[in-house]
Amino acid sequence: MKIAVLGTGMVGRAHAAKLAELGHEVTIGTRDVAKTTSETKPDQMGNPPFSQWQKEHSHVKLETFENAVKNTDMILEALHGAVAVEVLKALESSLTGKILIDIANPLDFSKGMPPSLFVSNTDSLGEQIQNTLPKTRVVKTFNTMNAMLQINPQMLANGEHHIFTSGNDADAKGKVTELLTSYGWKHIIDLGDITTARGTEMMMPFWLRLWGSLKTPMFNYRIVTK
Ligand SMILES: NC(=O)c1ccc[n+]([C@@H]2O[C@H](COP(=O)([O-])OP(=O)(O)OC[C@H]3O[C@@H](n4cnc5c(N)ncnc54)[C@H](OP(=O)(O)O)[C@@H]3O)[C@@H](O)[C@H]2O)c1
Repeated sequence: MKIAVLGTGMVGRAHAAKLAELGHEVTIGTRDVAKTTSETKPDQMGNPPFSQWQKEHSHVKLETFENAVKNTDMILEALHGAVAVEVLKALESSLTGKILIDIANPLDFSKGMPPSLFVSNTDSLGEQIQNTLPKTRVVKTFNTMNAMLQINPQMLANGEHHIFTSGNDADAKGKVTELLTSYGWKHIIDLGDITTARGTEMMMPFWLRLWGSLKTPMFNYRIVTK
């Protein structure tokens, strides 16, 4: 498939590398190609500059957000949560009819760490994106774990842990489930329509406390039923 990954952070890079490894044709989207490629210092999180990553992944193209989503079969959105709706709104016509995987979490860092959520309880970022793009088939997934685990579930407990999907379109969720399976995911729970993204996004405050307590981001949820 031709897949656009929106986001040059650690999540976008992780998925772009994984998707290319799986044989997909991948383009990463950014605001300003020249600015992104000219950066020479690690970012605030200590991630190496994009140009360094790109040298090791030269088969992944870099384009503006607008050019990246043209002529693609699927879009994977890994944007800073606070800007996701605004960025996607501007791309609305190019996203019509397409499947958009939303990984963003609605984290609000304005009052320091740990961040809170800028939308919760009666609404979610996943719903806001779906409402902004009524003709795009939005599926929320991946957002409940660290990026390295998202792309490689086998790194932990032989893959015996869970990932969730939320979305209104059954066909889109089916295709995303196929993609998840190709990543190595064995346990995928379909939570229901896009309003169920409220639940997975609200796992973030808990996830952040677990990270603080466990001192590692390499953990995930395993759901056990009778
Ligand atoms: N880190 C994890 O393990 C993890 C796990 C689950 C979910 N998530 C979620 O995944 C998303 C991506 O996380 P991340 O750490 O990879 O990256 P991030 O730093 O949250 O976001 C990076 C992307 O957001 C874009 N961006 C930032 N400010 C912008 C603005 N004002 N206007 C337009 N675009 C802007 C950047 O564009 P440029 O390319 O132009 O700089 C870049 O592509 C987040 O929503 C995060 O909550 C992260």
